[in-house]
Amino acid sequence: MTGYAADLALAHLLADAADAISTDRFRALDLRVESKPDLTPVSDADTAVEREIRALLAEHRPGDGLLGEEYGEQPAAGPDGRRWVVDPIDGTKNFVRGVPVWATLIALLESDRPVLGLVSAPALGRRWWAATGAGAYAGPDAASGAPIRVSGVKDLADASFCYSSLTGWESAGRLDAILQVMRHTWRSRAYGDFYGYMLLAEGALDVMVEPELSLWDVAALVPIVTEAGGTVTDRAGRPAPAGGENSAIATNGLLHADILERLGEPAAR
Ligand code: IPD
Ligand code: CA
Ligand code: CA
Ligand code: CA
Repeated sequence: MTGYAADLALAHLLADAADAISTDRFRALDLRVESKPDLTPVSDADTAVEREIRALLAEHRPGDGLLGEEYGEQPAAGPDGRRWVVDPIDGTKNFVRGVPVWATLIALLESDRPVLGLVSAPALGRRWWAATGAGAYAGPDAASGAPIRVSGVKDLADASFCYSSLTGWESAGRLDAILQVMRHTWRSRAYGDFYGYMLLAEGALDVMVEPELSLWDVAALVPIVTEAGGTVTDRAGRPAPAGGENSAIATNGLLHADILERLGEPAAR
């Protein structure tokens, strides 16, 4: 048992409740989908999952802060700096099209550092979780988790490289740099959202990069990748999440310096 055992048990309880709602709405013929001001989709499942998690946290952790993608920051972090950060459905575009790669992301932060992360992808039958000092695990549910570990690949020429979208890197002015990396690697694939980071944490690929993410996209992933032995920074090499809309460069650790050299901001080189 670690200092976060009770919080991890609560995170699994939140994920169980989230999974019940999201799996019921996944591929439902009457799913309601609207467009947000930024023209990205949001479904009734996104809002219902976040409302349920908010209700459970209000009941179990009334003193903690909460930031969620759909309903914002309320309450704010308490005097001890504890704050839950939730993405009710990561991969909404997949969800609304019936693609099973989506998940509920739950993180606990202390003074802005993620200390616990849980990713639950019920349509894949898989969950990943970690807390600082307690290791990283994956399995179908809390009772049957097995430890996970990043790969030992040392050379980019032998690496599986994963990116979410090329257009994001084009907007960041680094399309040429990404293409160069792709030419150097053994294999490159695009898996968006949480999925590339969880494959990295399990050792199934070696590098995952996203140019611009919000705190709720990243917070839960960081403890899982780092407790599995990996490294997650922004493009300047600062530990992720570094604040604001930010990049998330994740590697098995062994390839981090090389990737930062190729994709980092000039200041990082
Ligand atoms: C999105 C995904 C996607 C990323 C976007 C996010 P959502 O999250 O994480 O991979 O490129 O920036 O908004 O909206 O499906 O929770
Ligand atoms: Ca997201
Ligand atoms: Ca979301
Ligand atoms: Ca969204």
